[in-house]
Amino acid sequence: MRLDRFLSKTIGESRTSVKKLIRNRQIFVNDIAITSDGFHVDTAVDVVRYNDQVLEYEEYQYYLINKPQGYICANEDNINPTIIDYAPEFIMYKLHTVGRLDKDTTGALMLTNDGKLTHRLISPKNAFEKVYIAEVDGELSTELIVQFRDGFVINDEFKTLPATLEIVDKNIGRVTVVEGKYHQIKRMFGAFGLKVIKLHRERFANLVVDDLPIGGYRRLSRDELKYLIKD
Ligand code: URA
Repeated sequence: MRLDRFLSKTIGESRTSVKKLIRNRQIFVNDIAITSDGFHVDTAVDVVRYNDQVLEYEEYQYYLINKPQGYICANEDNINPTIIDYAPEFIMYKLHTVGRLDKDTTGALMLTNDGKLTHRLISPKNAFEKVYIAEVDGELSTELIVQFRDGFVINDEFKTLPATLEIVDKNIGRVTVVEGKYHQIKRMFGAFGLKVIKLHRERFANLVVDDLPIGGYRRLSRDELKYLIKD
């Protein structure tokens, strides 16, 4: 990889800024000051230093955000702000969301630039759980628990896979699903005449946002990532 690209990705500065560092002899590769932008770095073996700090190159980035309302899960949109525009790191690393949450949904949302992992995580055959807290405009009945468990047909389109509904309060339910069809939760309640007025995702696979305020984000921990990429 070119040295200027390597620096831009590890330090998080523009190519123009890192080129200045190179010209000013502030970058060392294997203890030699390098002055050429196009110097080739072998990321597997070369030790690159800046300000006495060794720069580690990570090919992929993994983030978790407690998504705020008002942002859509898309890379670009002419009308609404996208969750990618929310943080400079998301733009810089060219992240995409792992699945989607609606504009008005809050909660656990993973972002990465690792397309292969995204594919694995959203594939229904891998059955990663998603847990939602849904507030609806009516009373939840125990009959609904049975319906969600057994699955039912929505709009003659598809039969839902077995899901778990726990009644938290008379109009608040915790729903665990393993699929992620468009407006899945809203449509599931909608099939029984209930409108979802508030939706929050508590958990996506092993990722919970208990430690993050709404709008807060962080990198995944090593353990979180290990669980997701195992086997
Ligand atoms: N189901 C929905 O209806 N909306 C979401 O944002 C996520 C799941």
